[in-house]
Amino acid sequence: MFSVSEVTKKIGVARSTLLYYERINLIDPERDPDNGYRVYSQDDLNRLVLLKQLQKAGLTLSECRRFLEGKPDIELVEERLTNIEQELVEMKMAKDLLRSIYHRFTGKNPPEEEVADLRKWHADFEKRAADAHYNWLQEMGFSAKEALYIRWVSRDMTNNKDYMEHFFKVFENMKRQGPGSKESTLKSFNSISDKDSINNILEVGCGTGVTSITLADACSATITALDNHQPFLDRFQKEVTKGGYENRVKPINMDMHDLDYPDGSFDLIWSEGSSYFIGFETALKQWKRLIRNNGYLFISDAVWLTDNPTEECKAYWDIEYPQISNPEERVNQAKELGYEVIDNFNLPRRDWKSFYMDMEETVAKQVKKHGMNKTFMDMEDEIRVDRNFGDEYGYVCLLLRKK
Ligand SMILES: C[S@@+](CC[C@H](N)C(=O)[O-])C[C@H]1O[C@@H](n2cnc3c(N)ncnc32)[C@H](O)[C@@H]1O
Repeated sequence: MFSVSEVTKKIGVARSTLLYYERINLIDPERDPDNGYRVYSQDDLNRLVLLKQLQKAGLTLSECRRFLEGKPDIELVEERLTNIEQELVEMKMAKDLLRSIYHRFTGKNPPEEEVADLRKWHADFEKRAADAHYNWLQEMGFSAKEALYIRWVSRDMTNNKDYMEHFFKVFENMKRQGPGSKESTLKSFNSISDKDSINNILEVGCGTGVTSITLADACSATITALDNHQPFLDRFQKEVTKGGYENRVKPINMDMHDLDYPDGSFDLIWSEGSSYFIGFETALKQWKRLIRNNGYLFISDAVWLTDNPTEECKAYWDIEYPQISNPEERVNQAKELGYEVIDNFNLPRRDWKSFYMDMEETVAKQVKKHGMNKTFMDMEDEIRVDRNFGDEYGYVCLLLRKK
């Protein structure tokens, strides 16, 4: 048997709480016949422990009573279970946030088993509040460009400066920076019936400029080609000079978020695999004013080509591109935003295959040079996903006309 002070110590409840429970008949301790003091049995103690846990689970005292009387309200229990599960998710996110800050500011590498969690954490943050994620990354000391990469690829770059460097080194040495081909570019361009009216083109996210050169060969327009990665533009500029395109093709370093051109400046805006950096819908909205009336926008975006993607493939894309959609939805969004769909096709699988073959060869060369590291391992994983599940996703390619 236990005294009041023993119970308060053992259970961690105040004396006044204990007496209150008694007053409202939640417990009924016996009295010592010699001195009239309260004495608590082991059963009373168990009941008090249970009471405390039920309250922690969010039950009020009268709900606890029903439970203790063996008549629990099952609907209520279900509701509390859902709440607790939600709280656990939120607590986990808060813990990952603190962990992420800790790694960033101490410069300590996260243990291998935490890396996947951190990537997922970025992807979740991105899904829930894209702008807040972007701002937060900048507050953490990343440049705007780095922040954009992290938010979109959701890779764990938070503690690894080399990660980004190796990442760019691979793309700087590839033939192109995203899946595509000359044939696919021309397929869309040739669906423009009034090509003679195309005098001013803006290419957004041009990389090393393969597409701009293709367009320059296909028409006589002036092409402004922008990207925010200078080494891509340097390589592009060399091609421009070598091919004698200086008067018509102008690579420039500019952020696609800040396109400070007057309304209606371009007859055609071309964005091959680049709009996802600002988001498909945002791109359609923000770039519209730059296109002259009845002018064109080409845009391609990663989409599901199946309603039932394999679990592994889905898990991969959930992290790589949380906003991935499907062709129908992208077409509907374009229509809703005031564009007419002129051409709509899915980038052929062979374009993806040749992109990943190039990536595989380039990664292998970089591994020889620098040794294996996390960046190259992630890229090898990306290649493996494409090899195993490449039929499940693709690029929807839309040629749109501003209405
Ligand atoms: C997937 S690559 C596509 C490149 C090229 N269109 C192609 O198909 O080969 C995306 C390109 O967008 C560029 N980019 C990313 N964020 C950008 C930004 N905020 N402003 C301008 N360019 C950006 C990258 O440097 C990269 O060259």
